[in-house]
Amino acid sequence: MVENMYSATGFSHPNIALIKYWGNRDAKLRIPSNGSISMNLDGLYTRTQVWFDPQLDHDKLFLEGHQVAGTAQKRVSALLDRVRNMAGFALYARIQSHNNFPTGTGIASSASAFAALTVAACCAAGLELSQRDLSRLARTGSGSACRSIPGGFVEWQAGDDDKSSYAFTIAPTSHWELVDCIAVVSQDPKHTSSEDGHVLAESSPLQTTRISDTPGRLEKCRQAIKKRDFDALAEVVELDSNLMHAVIMTSNPPLLYWQPATLAVIQTVKEIRTQGTAVCYTIDAGPNVHVICPKEDTDYISAQLNQIPGVQKVLTTHPGGPARCIIDEDESITSKSSI
Ligand code: PMV
Repeated sequence: MVENMYSATGFSHPNIALIKYWGNRDAKLRIPSNGSISMNLDGLYTRTQVWFDPQLDHDKLFLEGHQVAGTAQKRVSALLDRVRNMAGFALYARIQSHNNFPTGTGIASSASAFAALTVAACCAAGLELSQRDLSRLARTGSGSACRSIPGGFVEWQAGDDDKSSYAFTIAPTSHWELVDCIAVVSQDPKHTSSEDGHVLAESSPLQTTRISDTPGRLEKCRQAIKKRDFDALAEVVELDSNLMHAVIMTSNPPLLYWQPATLAVIQTVKEIRTQGTAVCYTIDAGPNVHVICPKEDTDYISAQLNQIPGVQKVLTTHPGGPARCIIDEDESITSKSSI
């Protein structure tokens, strides 16, 4: 039936950047100033249904059941325009999206949102794209979304144009049993979106140095993952996070994503490490702290983080798989779907 061909549901995980993307060479196409490496986060997900509907005269976006207009809808429609162009039709879509984790707080909700949208829209449009092309397409919605298309440990090759800028798996989920204990210190949406933050990156006197030093950090991170060398990973991950936040704090105007509890978590992580437990921190564009440790230390680390004043809760996540989609056979699939 024709209507069934035009509805699909996409699932994807957010990812935590171990080597971070901050700043674009081409803001429109989201060609980044530097390559990056991340780990998908199992247990956290975005579920998005896209339904191309001949009755609609514009795209309709619903987030957590509420219709949303403005910038978010424009970004979604821009990605759907690319899909419509490739598929050769002009139908508008109803898009329904749900996250099972806080949105816009530095837990990469835009990454999983645009990855899920990309796979759902392509599936619904009957397009069979390679993982590389799905990654390129997701990148145009939100840069880090390209890293949520492949599974496991993922590298985004910066590239220099639309064709060469995409992400691929460098190690599968089973390669290394790392855990990301996310210390949630705020669930409020951040004051400055990463989209606006990327624009400011160039205004920091530290950005040029950060970018020119990135190939070395990427290589250290690749090697640490390959050899499952936690100490080497911890060193480069914390350095890279500190470098990005140094750029953020010294841009014009300066931004500060941290809150007092963010710093308290950093200090606790350092203390735990001094006492001999393998652990490190990394922070995206938000106040919440991603605390990475080997799987066997999860309960201990999580308990320590939960004791810090200002930590509201700790989410524990393991390496996650790739984005995927299912064709909806009927409307009821949206309430039946789970991940
Ligand atoms: O994809 P964006 O525009 O939401 O940017 C993501 C930026 C960081 O999360 C701070 C770093 C990264 O590489 O994910």
